[in-house]
Amino acid sequence: MTQHYRIALAGLGGVGRATASLLLARREHYRQHYGVEVRLVAACGSRAGVMDAEGLELDRLDHLEEGLTGPDFIAASQADALIEAGPSDFRTGGPGLPYLRAALTARRDAIVISKGALVHDGRALRDLAQASGSLLKLSGATAAALPTIDLLHYNLLGCRVLGIEGILNATTNFLLDAMIHRGISFAEALQEAQAAGFAESDPRNDVEGWDTACKLLILANFGLGADLGIADMAVSGIDHLGEDQLRGWRDQGLVPKLVGRLWREGEAFKASVGVQAYPASDPFALVAGKNKAVRITTDLMGEITAMGGGSEPRATAAAALKDLEHILAIRSR
Ligand SMILES: NC(=O)c1ccc[n+]([C@@H]2O[C@H](COP(=O)([O-])OP(=O)(O)OC[C@H]3O[C@@H](n4cnc5c(N)ncnc54)[C@H](OP(=O)(O)O)[C@@H]3O)[C@@H](O)[C@H]2O)c1
Repeated sequence: MTQHYRIALAGLGGVGRATASLLLARREHYRQHYGVEVRLVAACGSRAGVMDAEGLELDRLDHLEEGLTGPDFIAASQADALIEAGPSDFRTGGPGLPYLRAALTARRDAIVISKGALVHDGRALRDLAQASGSLLKLSGATAAALPTIDLLHYNLLGCRVLGIEGILNATTNFLLDAMIHRGISFAEALQEAQAAGFAESDPRNDVEGWDTACKLLILANFGLGADLGIADMAVSGIDHLGEDQLRGWRDQGLVPKLVGRLWREGEAFKASVGVQAYPASDPFALVAGKNKAVRITTDLMGEITAMGGGSEPRATAAAALKDLEHILAIRSR
C-alpha cells in the first residue's frame, strides 16, 4: 500500500517556489524509491496561501487566497512536514520561528531553509525536535548545495572534529574574487553582483560577515552540539578593505577570502569570521566566483575539503529536497 507524506510550505519567494516546483516534478521518483506518495497540501506567503488535502499542482500557487497564512493555517493542513523558506532574521528569529515552534510541538518534521530561527532560538528548537521525535533538517540553512552539515552528520560520524574553516557566502566570494583578480573596486563589484541578481539590494548581512557567521553557528550548534550565540563570535566582513591592502596581498601572491573559522579550546568551541589571505597552493585560493567551500579537520579521517555547489534558488531547493529524501528514507521504513 502506498503511504502518503504531506508537505506544507511557508515562504513563496524564489526559493519557496523553486522548492515547490522541484518537489512536484519529483513525485514519481519519491513513489519509486520510497514507496511514498508525496503531496504538497499547503503553501503560503506573508499574506495569502492555498490548501488542498488532495495535493496542489504548481499553477495553484498563482491563485492564493488572502488571509490563508501563519502557523495555524499550516497546522490546519495536517501536513506531516513543514518546509520553511521565509526571510532570515537572526536578530529576531524572523517569521520562521513561530512556524517551526508550532510544527515541532505538533510532532511534525521540519526542513528549514532560512537561518534566522536556527540562530536566534536553535537550542530550544533542537530540544523541541528531540522531545517530540520530529526530524529537523537544515541543509538549506548551512550553505545549501555545498555539503556541510551532512558531512558532520553522516560522512564524518564518530570522528572528533577539531576545526572547521568555511567560505560560506557566495556573494562575498564573488566580490573579493573580482576585486583581487580583476582589480575592480568594491562598489563596482557590488553593482555587478546586484545587476546579475544574486547580491541583495541591502548587502550588509553578506558583506559585514553576518551571513557567514550564521551558517557557521548553525553548523557548530546543530552539527557538533556546540552552544554558541552570535554574540560569542568576533565578526568582520569585507566592506572595510582598502586598495592598499588588496595590492599588498596581490604582490605577495596571496588570495583573500572571507572565512568563518571554528576551533576547539579545551572542550569549548570558539568561532570567528574575517578575511584570511591564502597562498595560491591552498585549495581555498582556488574557490572562484560564486563558489563556496568548507574544510573540516578531524582526529582520524584527516582533513576533508568540499568546494563548489550552486547558489541559485533551484540549487537551494535541491538541497532542501535532499533533506526530504533523508526523511522519507526513515519514515518509509
Ligand atoms: N536565494 C538563495 O538561493 C538562498 C540560499 C540559501 C538560503 N536561502 C534562504 O531562503 C529563504 C528564502 O529566500 P528567497 O530568496 O526565496 O526570499 P524571498 O524571495 O524574500 O521570499 C521570502 C518569502 O517568505 C514569505 N514570508 C514572509 N513573511 C512570511 C510569513 N510570516 N509567513 C509566510 N511567508 C512569509 C514572503 O511572502 P510575501 O511574498 O508575501 O512577501 C516570500 O514569499 C531566505 O531565508 C534565504 O536566506 C536562500
